[in-house]
Amino acid sequence: MKLLQNISREFSGYNVLESAKRLYDRKPLQCSLYVTDRCNLDCSYCTEYDNSQPHPSISDLKKWAYKIRELGTMRIALVGGEPLTHPDIVELVRYCRELGFATSLTTNGFLLTRKRLQDLEDAGLQVMQISVDRMTPSPITKKTFKTILPKLDYFKDSKVSLHITGVLCQDTLPESTAVLETGLARGIPTEVRLVHADPTSFYRVQRGSPEALKNFIEWMIQRKQNGEKIHTNEAVLDYQLSLLNGKPTEWTCMAGYKLFFVSAQGKFWECSMVKTEKHIMDITLDDLFANYRKKPCQAGCGVYCAVSTSLLVDNPAKVVGREIVARAKRVPALLRHAMSSNGTSLPSNPEGTQHVNGGSAGAPVAEERESLVGSARG
Ligand SMILES: C[S@@+](CC[C@H](N)C(=O)[O-])C[C@H]1O[C@@H](n2cnc3c(N)ncnc32)[C@H](O)[C@@H]1O
Ligand code: SF4
Ligand code: SF4
Repeated sequence: MKLLQNISREFSGYNVLESAKRLYDRKPLQCSLYVTDRCNLDCSYCTEYDNSQPHPSISDLKKWAYKIRELGTMRIALVGGEPLTHPDIVELVRYCRELGFATSLTTNGFLLTRKRLQDLEDAGLQVMQISVDRMTPSPITKKTFKTILPKLDYFKDSKVSLHITGVLCQDTLPESTAVLETGLARGIPTEVRLVHADPTSFYRVQRGSPEALKNFIEWMIQRKQNGEKIHTNEAVLDYQLSLLNGKPTEWTCMAGYKLFFVSAQGKFWECSMVKTEKHIMDITLDDLFANYRKKPCQAGCGVYCAVSTSLLVDNPAKVVGREIVARAKRVPALLRHAMSSNGTSLPSNPEGTQHVNGGSAGAPVAEERESLVGSARG
């Protein structure tokens, strides 16, 4: 029975039928809402925090969330800055769930405690993305497994579906394999994504050798095709490879239409890079539809959630089909585990901690899991 549950969870996705409608109508699928500009870290590749700004009030955030839902949006990704610095984040999650959003939150995890996770789970949070770039801190990034490993245990019996996302650049590359192996060994969907393109030379990081980056992405594709829980879908892995190969993928950016961003001042942004002065409260479905067009900034675009949604809307059968095949390859591991443990206990990983949420062994318990193709953020 447990085995069947585990297998079915590999294929489930939140609000799949409702989300599927968004592939064929004119309404948006996903919004990333900046719940604050404030952050407790200062990653060198990041342009998305500003500690001179106060937190937006919970009443404004609720007003914007209501409007975003009114436009027909299915999923809301709570991002920042650092969302866990906002004092009313739990209340906002509860409100988003009351509105009917599939709700995810992206965090650096530094302020995550067992109690905070429990409160978010009780409020209905479905997906949490924790960002982990390296095993140990560097001058570029403090988001490491050194901080996050001790917290993975919180997810053992949690309904919140966890995945790990790292940034791939020169500084992190030497530890990216270890980051991926550490997540995967615990059964957590894990990904490492190429640092965004930096047309204005704003980042304080080097991207790194294209050959070394390509090798790493090819290795992720291989592991994905072997049935491992690489969180990125193959279409986006291929896209990153094509960026490094200088062979642009043919696509039409759906940012500002099928997905959009709302800033911590309530401004409507097409994506994290393309900002407008329009207020979300003034946006109509016609405004969104006007953004269904190729964009001048498409070449080299590194907003992977936009790439992922755009490729999905453009060719759902191809993108979802490949993901289903990749997940089907996980089933033998579930069967092996069921036969070896009789499905009653969670095995230990080499360090002795138990596999956590997301594991092929300690399988997810949430009824509504991560979307088959969804990306929490950027
Ligand atoms: C802006 S952060 C906000 C949430 C939270 N503070 C965190 O770090 O997870 C959202 C995600 O964007 C990623 N990110 C930020 N700047 C990036 C860049 N230049 N290239 C690729 N990913 C980036 C972060 O690593 C993180 O996973
Ligand atoms: S990536 Fe996240 S944690 Fe790092 S500075 Fe940006 S907002 Fe803060
Ligand atoms: S192409 Fe990329 S940067 Fe340009 S609007 Fe689309 S998602 Fe944003």
